[in-house]
Formats: sequence, C-alpha cells, structure tokens
Amino acid sequence: MGSTWIKLAVLYLVFGICVGLFMSMTLMLKWGSAHAHVNLVGFATTAIFGVIYSVYPGAAKNSLGKAHFWLHNLGVPVFLLSAFLVQVPGMLDTAHIFTYLGGGAFGIGTIIFIVNAFKNINETTLIGSKK
Ligand code: HEM
Repeated sequence: MGSTWIKLAVLYLVFGICVGLFMSMTLMLKWGSAHAHVNLVGFATTAIFGVIYSVYPGAAKNSLGKAHFWLHNLGVPVFLLSAFLVQVPGMLDTAHIFTYLGGGAFGIGTIIFIVNAFKNINETTLIGSKK
C-alpha cells in the first residue's frame, strides 16, 4: 500500500513541476497557488503518508488505512482541480463546490489518518515486526 501512495505522489510532482515551468516561461504567475498545492498537497503530503505506511504496513492494511487511501486519493484530485478553477473567470462558484467536495474528502481522510496513527502506529505494525 505504501508504494502505491508514493507512485501517486510522484505523478503530482511531475505535474507540479510542469506547472512551475509553465509559469516561469509564460510569467502567468496567477497559477502559483495551484502549483504550490499540487506540489505540497499532491506530492509532499501524499509521499509522506506513503513513507509512513511503508514503515508501518500494519497501519495501512486495516479499515482506517483503506478508508484514508480512498478518501485522500479521490478527494485530492478534485480539490486540486478547484485550485485551478478558482483562477478561471466565471468558474468561482463551480470551483468552490469542488473545493468543498474534494477538500472535504481530503480533510475527513486526514482525520481518519490521525485516529489510525494514534491507534495503530506502534511496534506491532512496524515493518518486519513478528508480533
Ligand atoms: C522545476 C520546478 C519548479 C518551478 C520551475 C517552479 C516555479 C515556480 C514559480 C514561477 C512560482 C511563482 C513565483 C511568484 O509568484 O513569484 C512558484 C511558486 C511556488 N512554488 Fe514552485 N516551482 C517548482 C517546483 C516547486 C516544488 C517542487 C515545490 C514544493 C514542493 C514548489 C512550491 C512552490 C510554492 C510554495 C510557491 C509559492 C506559491 C504562492 O506564493 O502562491 N515549487 N514556483
């Protein structure tokens, strides 16, 4: 499960860097917030979750880990889409619907991760644990 998180994170890194290069070339700096969210929510946050679940695979296998995976990986693309749409004239109302839906799923997933971390991140779920 951890490796799937990390592979998804790398896709966001590629996209985020492309947006950064596009902004540098065109000086269309209005995409800066979306670029930052793709890199920091899409790449950095997803990759950190992936590393945590790689170190504690036992925490990824339970229902909380699975719920977190789906809420995060369905919610984040919708949330990031909204980060671009807010910059498109006339799309603000639509963008906000996506922000609430995608950001809501991402937020609920993160709360589930926090519960999972306190309940299930310990020596019994650590990689290589024989307990
Ligand atoms: C080749 C790679 C990258 C390029 C060419 C690039 C380019 C840019 C540009 C042109 C801006 C706008 C600066 C401005 O408004 O004055 C920016 C902002 C930013 N970038 Fe990148 N970037 C790259 C990679 C990254 C990565 C990997 C991260 C984070 C992991 C990142 C995080 C940010 C943040 C936080 C901002 C500020 C956004 C804001 O103020 O709204 N960038 N970047």
